[in-house]
Formats: sequence, structure tokens, C-alpha cells
Amino acid sequence: MHEAIETLKRSALAELSTSGDLQALEHFRISYLARKGQIAELFDKLKDAPPEQKPALGKALNEMRRSIESQFEEKKARLETGQKKKSIHLDLTLPGLRPWVGSKHPITQTLDEIKRIFLGMGFQVETGPEIEDDYHNFGALNFPPDHPARDMQDTFFISNDVVLRTHTSPVQIRVMETQKPPIRALIPGRVYRNEAISARSYCLFHQVEGLYVDTNVTFAELKGTLVAFAKQFYGSSLKYRFRPSFFPFTEPSAEMDITCFLCKAKGCRVCKNTGWLEILGCGMVDPNVFQSVNYDPEMYTGYAFGMGIERIAMLRYGIDDIRILFENDIRFLSQF
Ligand code: PHE
Repeated sequence: MHEAIETLKRSALAELSTSGDLQALEHFRISYLARKGQIAELFDKLKDAPPEQKPALGKALNEMRRSIESQFEEKKARLETGQKKKSIHLDLTLPGLRPWVGSKHPITQTLDEIKRIFLGMGFQVETGPEIEDDYHNFGALNFPPDHPARDMQDTFFISNDVVLRTHTSPVQIRVMETQKPPIRALIPGRVYRNEAISARSYCLFHQVEGLYVDTNVTFAELKGTLVAFAKQFYGSSLKYRFRPSFFPFTEPSAEMDITCFLCKAKGCRVCKNTGWLEILGCGMVDPNVFQSVNYDPEMYTGYAFGMGIERIAMLRYGIDDIRILFENDIRFLSQF
């Protein structure tokens, strides 16, 4: 019987040491330590042993059971904490935490595309100040002193003759003051207007302006350039028209319309049922403007154009309220 005790102990400890997880350990417990396990079975045999051997055998059995139980508990504790640690720190199948990545604002994306097209045609980006003097914003651009655009309603005045620029056209003047023709300038920037804020107009928006000055520049070149731009930007199948218009700094002046791509020119709310969308203003640089920058109007001709970027971005992305472009709401911006 002593031998049987030794054998059981050896085989139990050997199996315990190869039980690598809690499931194997449970299997071990049922096989050895449970009420009908191998240890209990051996205890049962005690009653058949000769009475004088019983105390010694009982002692050996108890020692054997205690030793196996204590090693079992130790192993169980080790496996349990080990598994917990693993699930907290070492689940290699969990997807990683992605770092938060920003994206370009829809205004920037639209401007980037406009820039790409005009830079490809030889234009160069120029910029100017947002706080402008009356002379650059109005006077040098041939606005008469009583022109309604100078009215308090449209312009934010900082002082009597300092304003927040109401368009990017003053940069035309600044470019011509510092450079000689030929000039091919593309002028993006923020502009400010003192208008009632609504879904369609905001006190601040962006424009991009073009200026081309050289000898013998014609209105046909203006049209050709703008049509080439519009076809690249809106798609080559678009239809367009130029309507006569008026700006103090261009003569003749025009506005360019394209067929409404939202309703395929059938008429909708955005094109006000006309089938046409106005996309920009343009014209031949007025000789009075050349005079204010000391260019000889007999020698040089040029064209200029300007467009609002918010309007283009809103049409492009189907945004129906301009204010959302300035709120910096991450739920809106993360869609772009
Ligand atoms: N500056 C004009 C505007 O604000 C647009 C324009 C630019 C028109 C250049 C003609 C030529 O609305």
C-alpha cells in the first residue's frame, strides 16, 4: 500500500506539472481530488489494511493528499493571474488604437483644385493684406467716391480710410505696383462683408482672383482660359454662357454661368429655376486701373476674374448652409 501511495503521488505531480491551462487543471482536479477521484479511492482501501498498519498508512495518505492539494492550489493561482495578465496586456488580435488624423477643410480642398488648374496654365499665387486701405480696396480700382459698395452696409470700416477688404481685387493693384508685365497672378484669400448673416451669406468668405496683363491680351483669351478652367473643374460636357455685367475695375465686364449640374438644367431651388448657375465675375482691366499703377494703357491690356470659393464648395459637396463651413464642428469636417 505504501508503494501505491508513492506511485499515485508521483503520477499526480507529473500530470500537474504538464497541466498548462485552467481547463487541464480542472480535468486534473476531477481525476485526483474529487470525491470519487483516485485519492479518495486509495483512502477507501485503508479499511482493508491490517489494523496495526492503519495509523502509519493513514498518515502517509494524508500527507500525500495535502502535498498534492497544496501544489494544485499553487498552480491554479499561478494560471489564473497569468491568464488575467494575458487578457489585459497581450491580446495581439485586438485592433490597435488609430491616431486621430485631420483632413483638409472643404474650402481648402476646393481652392487646391482651382490652384492646380490655374498653376498648370502658368499662373502664380500672390497674396495681400486682409486689412486694406480705402485706396487699394476702392479708389485705385476705379470705384467713384459715391459708389454704393463703399456704403457702411457692405464694408467693415476700421477707420475712415482703413477697411477689411471686401474682395481680393486690391491685390491686383499691389501686384501691379511691384511687378512689370507680363503678369499672371492667382490671388486667393479671405474677404469680409458687413451683410446680414444667413444660410447664404456670412460676414467672412473666400475669393480667388485672377489677373493677366501683357501686350495684346484679348477678351477671347479671357473666355478661352475660363472655359478651359470650367471644363476641368466641372467636367468637359458642361455648357456655359457669358452675360454682360458691370464692375468699376473692368470694361467690358461679364459674368460666367454654367448649366446647373444639380438639376441638369431642368430647374431647381439652387438655380432658382433658371437652369443656370453664376460662377464668376470677369472682364478686361479698365484703363483707369492701369493708370493708377502707372502702366501705359496704350501699351498693355489685361483681364481679371474673381470667384467665391464657398459657393463653389457648397455646390460641389451639396452643403446648404454657408455657416457650417465656419463652425469647425468635427462631426462635419471629418466627412471630408
Ligand atoms: N471683385 C469682384 C467681386 O467681388 C469680382 C471680380 C474680380 C470681377 C475680377 C471682375 C474681375 O465680386
